[in-house]
Amino acid sequence: MIIAVDGPTASGKGTIARALAAHYGLPHLDTGLLYRAVGRQVFLSEGNPDDAGAALAACAFPESLLADPELRSEETGGYASRVSVHPAVRAALLERQQAFANQPGGAVLDGRDIATVIAPHADAKLFVTASVSARAMRRWVEMKQLGKDVERAEIEADLEARDERDRNRAEAPLRQAAGTALLDTSNLTKEMAVATAIALVEKQLGEK
Ligand code: DC
Repeated sequence: MIIAVDGPTASGKGTIARALAAHYGLPHLDTGLLYRAVGRQVFLSEGNPDDAGAALAACAFPESLLADPELRSEETGGYASRVSVHPAVRAALLERQQAFANQPGGAVLDGRDIATVIAPHADAKLFVTASVSARAMRRWVEMKQLGKDVERAEIEADLEARDERDRNRAEAPLRQAAGTALLDTSNLTKEMAVATAIALVEKQLGEK
Protein backbone atom coordinates (compact mmCIF):
# COMPACT_ATOMS: atom_id res chain seq x y z
CA MET A 1 0.00 0.00 0.00
CA ILE A 2 1.33 3.43 -0.99
CA ILE A 3 0.09 6.58 0.75
CA ALA A 4 0.89 9.99 -0.77
CA VAL A 5 0.73 13.09 1.43
CA ASP A 6 1.28 16.47 -0.24
CA GLY A 7 0.93 20.01 1.00
CA PRO A 8 2.68 23.30 1.74
CA THR A 9 5.25 23.83 4.46
CA ALA A 10 4.04 23.67 8.10
CA SER A 11 0.61 22.38 7.03
CA GLY A 12 0.97 19.37 9.32
CA LYS A 13 1.71 16.95 6.46
CA GLY A 14 4.89 15.63 8.12
CA THR A 15 3.13 14.86 11.41
CA ILE A 16 0.25 13.23 9.55
CA ALA A 17 2.54 11.17 7.30
CA ARG A 18 4.52 9.90 10.31
CA ALA A 19 1.30 9.00 12.16
CA LEU A 20 -0.09 7.17 9.10
CA ALA A 21 3.17 5.24 8.76
CA ALA A 22 3.00 4.19 12.41
CA HIS A 23 -0.70 3.31 12.13
CA TYR A 24 -0.26 1.09 9.05
CA GLY A 25 3.23 -0.16 9.95
CA LEU A 26 4.78 1.31 6.80
CA PRO A 27 8.17 2.98 6.23
CA HIS A 28 8.03 6.76 5.78
CA LEU A 29 10.04 9.17 3.61
CA ASP A 30 9.98 12.93 4.16
CA THR A 31 10.96 13.96 0.62
CA GLY A 32 11.41 17.60 1.67
CA LEU A 33 14.47 16.42 3.59
CA LEU A 34 16.16 15.43 0.31
CA TYR A 35 15.61 18.92 -1.13
CA ARG A 36 16.76 20.41 2.17
CA ALA A 37 19.96 18.34 1.98
CA VAL A 38 20.60 19.67 -1.54
CA GLY A 39 19.94 23.22 -0.32
CA ARG A 40 22.22 22.76 2.68
CA GLN A 41 24.97 21.30 0.49
CA VAL A 42 24.79 24.36 -1.80
CA PHE A 43 25.02 26.60 1.26
CA LEU A 44 28.01 24.68 2.67
CA SER A 45 29.84 24.86 -0.64
CA GLU A 46 29.00 28.58 -0.87
CA GLY A 47 27.16 28.07 -4.16
CA ASN A 48 24.16 29.93 -5.55
CA PRO A 49 20.90 27.93 -5.16
CA ASP A 50 19.41 29.71 -8.19
CA ASP A 51 22.21 28.37 -10.37
CA ALA A 52 21.11 25.03 -11.91
CA GLY A 53 24.68 23.73 -12.19
CA ALA A 54 25.54 24.42 -8.56
CA ALA A 55 22.24 22.92 -7.42
CA LEU A 56 22.71 19.78 -9.51
CA ALA A 57 26.26 19.27 -8.20
CA ALA A 58 24.84 19.47 -4.67
CA CYS A 59 22.57 16.47 -5.35
CA ALA A 60 25.65 14.33 -4.67
CA PHE A 61 25.43 15.32 -0.98
CA PRO A 62 26.92 12.86 1.53
CA GLU A 63 24.29 10.63 3.23
CA SER A 64 25.49 11.86 6.63
CA LEU A 65 24.07 15.30 5.76
CA LEU A 66 20.53 13.90 6.19
CA ALA A 67 21.19 13.85 9.97
CA ASP A 68 22.27 17.51 10.11
CA PRO A 69 19.91 19.37 12.53
CA GLU A 70 20.37 22.49 10.37
CA LEU A 71 18.22 20.84 7.70
CA ARG A 72 15.17 21.88 9.74
CA SER A 73 16.02 25.58 9.81
CA GLU A 74 14.02 28.22 7.94
CA GLU A 75 17.17 29.27 6.12
CA THR A 76 17.69 25.76 4.74
CA GLY A 77 13.97 25.60 3.86
CA GLY A 78 14.42 28.69 1.70
CA TYR A 79 17.46 27.18 -0.02
CA ALA A 80 15.53 23.92 -0.54
CA SER A 81 12.66 25.76 -2.19
CA ARG A 82 15.10 27.55 -4.50
CA VAL A 83 17.05 24.44 -5.59
CA SER A 84 13.79 22.52 -6.11
CA VAL A 85 12.74 24.68 -9.08
CA HIS A 86 15.52 23.20 -11.26
CA PRO A 87 14.26 20.27 -13.39
CA ALA A 88 17.73 18.64 -13.23
CA VAL A 89 17.56 18.59 -9.42
CA ARG A 90 14.08 17.04 -9.44
CA ALA A 91 15.25 14.43 -11.97
CA ALA A 92 18.30 13.59 -9.85
CA LEU A 93 16.11 12.89 -6.80
CA LEU A 94 13.33 11.09 -8.69
CA GLU A 95 14.63 7.53 -8.75
CA ARG A 96 15.42 7.44 -5.05
CA GLN A 97 11.88 8.57 -4.19
CA GLN A 98 10.21 6.19 -6.64
CA ALA A 99 12.27 3.26 -5.38
CA PHE A 100 11.15 4.09 -1.84
CA ALA A 101 7.49 4.36 -2.90
CA ASN A 102 7.53 1.09 -4.82
CA GLN A 103 9.36 -1.06 -2.27
CA PRO A 104 7.60 -4.34 -1.45
CA GLY A 105 5.07 -3.83 1.33
CA GLY A 106 4.44 -0.20 0.49
CA ALA A 107 5.34 3.17 2.00
CA VAL A 108 4.16 6.59 3.08
CA LEU A 109 5.78 9.61 1.38
CA ASP A 110 5.19 13.28 2.03
CA GLY A 111 6.16 16.23 -0.12
CA ARG A 112 4.81 18.44 -2.89
CA ASP A 113 4.59 16.16 -5.92
CA ILE A 114 4.00 12.67 -4.52
CA ALA A 115 0.50 12.24 -5.98
CA THR A 116 1.33 14.13 -9.18
CA VAL A 117 4.79 12.83 -10.13
CA ILE A 118 6.41 10.34 -7.73
CA ALA A 119 3.51 7.95 -7.11
CA PRO A 120 0.37 8.85 -9.12
CA HIS A 121 -0.62 5.18 -8.61
CA ALA A 122 -0.73 5.59 -4.80
CA ASP A 123 -3.60 3.77 -3.07
CA ALA A 124 -4.49 6.77 -0.91
CA LYS A 125 -3.71 10.45 -1.52
CA LEU A 126 -4.08 13.36 0.86
CA PHE A 127 -3.56 17.06 0.27
CA VAL A 128 -2.93 18.66 3.64
CA THR A 129 -3.32 22.40 3.96
CA ALA A 130 -3.87 25.13 6.57
CA SER A 131 -4.22 28.91 6.56
CA VAL A 132 -1.03 30.96 6.39
CA SER A 133 -1.70 32.36 9.87
CA ALA A 134 -2.20 28.89 11.41
CA ARG A 135 1.00 27.63 9.77
CA ALA A 136 2.99 30.72 10.82
CA MET A 137 1.72 30.31 14.39
CA ARG A 138 2.90 26.66 14.50
CA ARG A 139 6.30 27.58 13.06
CA TRP A 140 6.61 30.41 15.58
CA VAL A 141 5.88 28.05 18.51
CA GLU A 142 8.44 25.56 17.11
CA MET A 143 11.04 28.34 16.88
CA LYS A 144 10.30 29.51 20.42
CA GLN A 145 10.85 25.97 21.67
CA LEU A 146 14.22 25.97 19.91
CA GLY A 147 15.03 29.22 21.72
CA LYS A 148 14.84 31.31 18.53
CA ASP A 149 13.03 34.61 18.72
CA VAL A 150 11.58 35.38 15.30
CA GLU A 151 8.79 37.85 14.48
CA ARG A 152 5.53 36.13 13.50
CA ALA A 153 5.12 38.59 10.61
CA GLU A 154 8.55 37.62 9.31
CA ILE A 155 7.67 33.92 9.41
CA GLU A 156 4.39 34.63 7.62
CA ALA A 157 6.17 36.58 4.86
CA ASP A 158 8.70 33.74 4.49
CA LEU A 159 5.96 31.11 4.22
CA GLU A 160 4.10 33.13 1.61
CA ALA A 161 7.24 33.61 -0.49
CA ARG A 162 7.97 29.87 -0.32
CA ASP A 163 4.36 28.92 -1.19
CA GLU A 164 4.44 31.29 -4.13
CA ARG A 165 7.66 29.72 -5.47
CA ASP A 166 6.50 26.10 -4.85
CA ARG A 167 3.11 26.74 -6.53
CA ASN A 168 4.33 28.70 -9.54
CA ARG A 169 7.44 26.81 -10.63
CA ALA A 170 7.22 25.26 -14.11
CA GLU A 171 8.21 21.74 -13.06
CA ALA A 172 6.05 19.69 -10.65
CA PRO A 173 4.41 22.67 -8.92
CA LEU A 174 2.55 22.18 -5.65
CA ARG A 175 -1.08 21.48 -6.49
CA GLN A 176 -3.89 19.23 -5.39
CA ALA A 177 -4.05 16.26 -7.76
CA ALA A 178 -7.34 14.76 -8.97
CA GLY A 179 -8.54 11.96 -6.71
CA THR A 180 -6.88 13.50 -3.66
CA ALA A 181 -8.70 14.09 -0.36
CA LEU A 182 -8.33 17.62 1.02
CA LEU A 183 -7.54 17.95 4.73
CA ASP A 184 -7.50 21.47 6.17
CA THR A 185 -5.79 21.36 9.58
CA SER A 186 -6.20 25.08 10.43
CA ASN A 187 -8.65 24.44 13.27
CA LEU A 188 -7.69 20.90 14.22
CA THR A 189 -5.53 19.65 17.07
CA LYS A 190 -2.78 17.22 16.09
CA GLU A 191 -4.90 14.30 17.37
CA MET A 192 -7.96 15.41 15.40
CA ALA A 193 -5.89 15.92 12.24
CA VAL A 194 -4.40 12.42 12.51
CA ALA A 195 -7.79 10.80 13.18
CA THR A 196 -9.28 12.63 10.19
CA ALA A 197 -6.35 11.57 7.98
CA ILE A 198 -6.83 7.91 8.94
CA ALA A 199 -10.57 8.16 8.21
CA LEU A 200 -9.89 9.73 4.78
CA VAL A 201 -7.35 7.01 3.91
CA GLU A 202 -9.79 4.28 5.01
CA LYS A 203 -12.49 5.83 2.83
CA GLN A 204 -10.17 5.88 -0.21
CA LEU A 205 -9.06 2.30 0.38
CA GLY A 206 -12.71 1.24 0.67
CA GLU A 207 -13.51 2.88 -2.66
CA LYS A 208 -10.78 1.01 -4.51
O1 DC B 1 8.39 20.12 3.03
P1 DC B 1 9.62 21.00 3.28
O2 DC B 1 9.30 22.35 3.83
O3 DC B 1 10.66 20.27 4.07
O4 DC B 1 10.24 21.21 1.81
C1 DC B 1 11.30 22.08 1.56
C2 DC B 1 11.29 22.52 0.10
O5 DC B 1 11.59 21.41 -0.76
C3 DC B 1 9.96 23.04 -0.40
O6 DC B 1 9.86 24.44 -0.24
C4 DC B 1 9.90 22.65 -1.86
C5 DC B 1 10.82 21.46 -1.95
N1 DC B 1 10.13 20.18 -2.13
C6 DC B 1 9.75 19.84 -3.40
O7 DC B 1 9.92 20.63 -4.32
N2 DC B 1 9.18 18.62 -3.64
C7 DC B 1 8.97 17.75 -2.63
N3 DC B 1 8.42 16.56 -2.90
C8 DC B 1 9.32 18.10 -1.31
C9 DC B 1 9.90 19.34 -1.08
